[in-house]
Amino acid sequence: MSNSTPTLQAYRASLLTFHADPAFADDAHTWIEDGLLLVADGRIQAAGDYATLAPTLAPGTPVADYRGHIITPGFIDTHLHFPQTDMIASPAPGLLPWLDTYTFPTERQFGDPAHARAGAEFFLDELLRNGTTTAMVYCSVHKESAEAFFEASAARKLRMAGGKVLMDRNCPDFLQDSADLRDSEDLIRRWHNNGRSMYAITPRFAPTSTEAQLAATGELARAYPDTFIQTHVSENQDECAWVGQLFPQRRSYLDVYEHYGLMRPRAMFGHCIWLDDTDFSRLAQTGSAIAHCPTSNLFLGSGLFDMKRADDAGAMVALGTDVGAGTSFSMLQTMNEAYKVARLKGSYLPALRMFYLATLGAARSMGLEGTIGTLAPGAEADFIVLDRKATPLLARRTAHAGSLEETLFALALLGDDRAIRATYAAGACVHERSPAFTPSN
Ligand code: GUN
Ligand code: ZN
Repeated sequence: MSNSTPTLQAYRASLLTFHADPAFADDAHTWIEDGLLLVADGRIQAAGDYATLAPTLAPGTPVADYRGHIITPGFIDTHLHFPQTDMIASPAPGLLPWLDTYTFPTERQFGDPAHARAGAEFFLDELLRNGTTTAMVYCSVHKESAEAFFEASAARKLRMAGGKVLMDRNCPDFLQDSADLRDSEDLIRRWHNNGRSMYAITPRFAPTSTEAQLAATGELARAYPDTFIQTHVSENQDECAWVGQLFPQRRSYLDVYEHYGLMRPRAMFGHCIWLDDTDFSRLAQTGSAIAHCPTSNLFLGSGLFDMKRADDAGAMVALGTDVGAGTSFSMLQTMNEAYKVARLKGSYLPALRMFYLATLGAARSMGLEGTIGTLAPGAEADFIVLDRKATPLLARRTAHAGSLEETLFALALLGDDRAIRATYAAGACVHERSPAFTPSN
């Protein structure tokens, strides 16, 4: 008997992947009812009909039988805060009091490396349990928190972007850094494109950065042009008024970031609720992207994002949970709320579009098309197995779904972590749902 393990692994299930945005193309997805996904050395080798591909397999090739389930690319969450896991579901009357009361004291603890390490492990477990294989992550202001995040993520071979928060004013002393961005630069050198880790330069938001810090941030972004940039913009009306006072010479809140060179491909702007038409156009023209975070926006009462205006301007949109202002790690629950926000803005978000936004759309918005967010050959094998019978109600509803759209819609509206049967990253199983959840105490 050979002791070399076979490198090819096959997965039998229905397959769903995208090659275009369903909002702008009729034929944007591929659906294979009885499909086979072939994976070797962490990459997708092929995705096709079982009947065609199965006879090509060498005898003894392992085939995982997920018949009745749907394999899609792993979800991509383009905006959330790892230290805020511990304060999810903390009530406050709006963004600014929520930051002062809960966020800053919670983030303070992440200067302690042991606390940050334990928090990073729990956070990654939770992402994978929810089928999220890539995320753009805000760490705390402490370099230690970013080190802990990347070490934990690299140990699991995950494709993750993250960065230490920058803030040098209008925050408690215990969280204040400076316009000297040496820590961020050290982190870029150590982690950016090291394995599957990627660095995101992370000014928290304009009110907590001095002009000197924003200028230094723009210089860093220019010096490392393939890093990511992430920040918040136009989330809340009080915040917008505050930015107007702090930066009276700028045309708009978004223009503060443009002025300092922070609008470019791989820049991800969280929220984008209170933008004007010029702002939406500048997002499109600069190749920047929007992270739409509906559970957070509803929770904090921030406002309703207008997907149609973004689409009309040609701006890239992806979805984010924004945990801990977001109320769930589940991208399915994020789709559920995105659907309702679109309805309240008078537009309609089909399920196919929502699954696109959480996979290929997000990969495009991050400049990672071809790498993640797809089942196309050559891509990294980050994928999930969705269980349309995960709960009695889902099973009852999907049993008589009349179309793929209805099945996906039921998964988005009724699903959560229970609908994720398994999560694979770089071809390895990194989460498998246990048959029943048993509380440990
Ligand atoms: N604006 C500045 N910081 C934050 C944050 O941590 N969460 C949210 N939702 N908005 C912010
Ligand atoms: Zn946020």
